[in-house]
Amino acid sequence: MPVLEVDEIRAHYGSIEALKGVSLTVEEGEVVTLIGSNGAGKSTTLRAISGLTPASSGRVVLEGRDITRVPAHEIAGHGIALAPEGRHCFARMSVRENLDLGAHRRRGPEIAQDIERVFELFPRLRERERQKAGTMSGGEQQMLAIGRALMARPRLLMLDEPSMGIAPFLVQRIYETIAQINRDGMAILLVEQNANYALDAARRGYVLETGRVVLSGPASELRVDPEVQRAYLGA
Ligand SMILES: Nc1ncnc2c1ncn2[C@@H]1O[C@H](COP(=O)(O)OP(=O)(O)OP(=O)(O)O)[C@@H](O)[C@H]1O
Ligand SMILES: [Mg+2]
Repeated sequence: MPVLEVDEIRAHYGSIEALKGVSLTVEEGEVVTLIGSNGAGKSTTLRAISGLTPASSGRVVLEGRDITRVPAHEIAGHGIALAPEGRHCFARMSVRENLDLGAHRRRGPEIAQDIERVFELFPRLRERERQKAGTMSGGEQQMLAIGRALMARPRLLMLDEPSMGIAPFLVQRIYETIAQINRDGMAILLVEQNANYALDAARRGYVLETGRVVLSGPASELRVDPEVQRAYLGA
């Protein structure tokens, strides 16, 4: 059984149909990427999965349970965490407080262990534990957004453009950490405009164009696909 199964979802913003029947799967232990240009519907796909922009038709199934109609505020309890585009850390709260919020539905001593684990993954966050999130660099806030998502102990971690607006050396560090999180067993759905990073990190990928999947396959095959090279790899 896949961790995530998305079946023919459509999603609308008013009269605009942003998703026109998107299907994808994420298997146990996989990193799967969704690539595509501006406005292709990548973020909307993650928003539909997490209930922020509910699918108007189709199905979202997590580990065999239909979660299509689960509202966004309950989705964490079902095992999905999203580090959204633009990060959305709570600017006036400290790093530690942001991480605590990621675990707000949970109780018990494992929360402290999970914070320790996030600090091991991102030592920079430990150094900045008391710093206000809004005063940190873009890359540090991205680390915090991922750390906060992990604090929900998800079954599926969704990342929306973790490389956006971040210095290349920090992007590299973030991607190393994403690989580490995956080696620990986490299934990851990764949205990226930067297909180079995405296809390095993922085992499989889907290419989205104007709300439709136009191509999918192993990352190694997408990387050498002439259309992908032309449109997304700047070849
Ligand atoms: N809140 C909104 N209201 C109206 N239309 C929206 C809204 N959010 C997104 N859209 C439209 O839906 C389509 C898909 O947008 P989406 O944000 O999913 O694209 P994306 O692939 O994530 O793009 P980007 O790479 O620029 O982040 C676009 O045409 C966009 O203009
Ligand atoms: Mg987006």
